Amino acid sequence: MQQIPLPHTTLKGSRLILGCMGLGGGWAPDTLLTKAHEKEARDFLEAGLELGANFYDHANIYGAGRSEEVFGRILKEQPGLRDDLIIQSKVGIRWADNPKGTPQRFDFSRKHILEALEAVLRRLGTDHLEILLLHRPDALWDPEEVAEAFALLKAQGKVRYFGVSNQNRFQMEYLQSFLPDALVANQVEMNLLHSGFAEVGISFNQSAALYPDGWEGTMEYCRMNKVTLQAWSPLARGVLTGDLNDRPENVKAAAALVRSLAKQHETTPEAIQLAWLLKHPAGIQPVLGTSKPERLRACVKALDVELSREEWYSLFAAGRGRPMP
Ligand SMILES: NC(=O)c1ccc[n+]([C@@H]2O[C@H](COP(=O)([O-])OP(=O)(O)OC[C@H]3O[C@@H](n4cnc5c(N)ncnc54)[C@H](OP(=O)(O)O)[C@@H]3O)[C@@H](O)[C@H]2O)c1
Repeated sequence: MQQIPLPHTTLKGSRLILGCMGLGGGWAPDTLLTKAHEKEARDFLEAGLELGANFYDHANIYGAGRSEEVFGRILKEQPGLRDDLIIQSKVGIRWADNPKGTPQRFDFSRKHILEALEAVLRRLGTDHLEILLLHRPDALWDPEEVAEAFALLKAQGKVRYFGVSNQNRFQMEYLQSFLPDALVANQVEMNLLHSGFAEVGISFNQSAALYPDGWEGTMEYCRMNKVTLQAWSPLARGVLTGDLNDRPENVKAAAALVRSLAKQHETTPEAIQLAWLLKHPAGIQPVLGTSKPERLRACVKALDVELSREEWYSLFAAGRGRPMP
């Protein structure tokens, strides 16, 4: 797999990022890690490395911490492997009852960022992350506190680069004004069924515009400032290759077009969906979600697909359920 220079860094990362949310047995807080979870993580990482993927995405909440923990166990089995990887994680979301009696909330306080990062490093068994993202905007955030936490983590060598997730242009611009170094990434949902990033541009000045998910100016800000857009749920969680019986008409139409283009391009439906994101000139990096080696292989075929402008717009129109205005 092609490795590309990541803007504002000295890193070279695989064009596709491998998401680790599926590792460690799901969201339940009290699940225990088993040998089966370890085997799943080992097989996933081995398949990823075989395909040339060196960039892995985590968050402190995935699998209630077990996604990082099981990944860390596999790293420990293979000394030297850590140095070949780009590990990214996220902090800032706090589930309810943590500690007991607390509500679900977001937390960009200096204290939480620092404490959560220590726990991330402990679970992964590493002394640093290449990239730390703030997971989801905190309504009570104080960017000065974020900047202090980032400065300390960088000075201590615990995090090399910083970015955000699920933030709009104004939030990024505001945070950036407090930081000495450029934000390197914004991780946002982008797929054929969640295409606000493309919708927002074509909706301007239209009387029957579709809701653009608050994307106003975000694509342009990222492109102007070389903030890499990372696409989470790039396959819309497998909906377009799953059971379509109770799905709305646009989903059925998009799935049919994806299948037909896969046939024409002699590739997989997963590759067509990812090629749709890869064609965008912003250099979007999809964050794959599958933990299954055979699905990873189906996804990586996207790197050999070049969609035409006409195919790109046909897919966009099918997913949004309306032709272009
Ligand atoms: N920043 C954020 O707020 C945020 C939010 C969500 C996710 N993420 C990141 O983005 C990554 C991807 O998210 P996602 O899991 O929603 O992405 P996705 O790639 O759209 O969906 C993958 C999920 O769909 C299932 N699936 C069903 N059919 C599939 C097929 N044919 N091909 C591939 N997967 C299929 C997979 O199950 P199997 O594992 O059984 O294949 C997996 O659970 C996560 O791992 C995480 O790193 C970030």
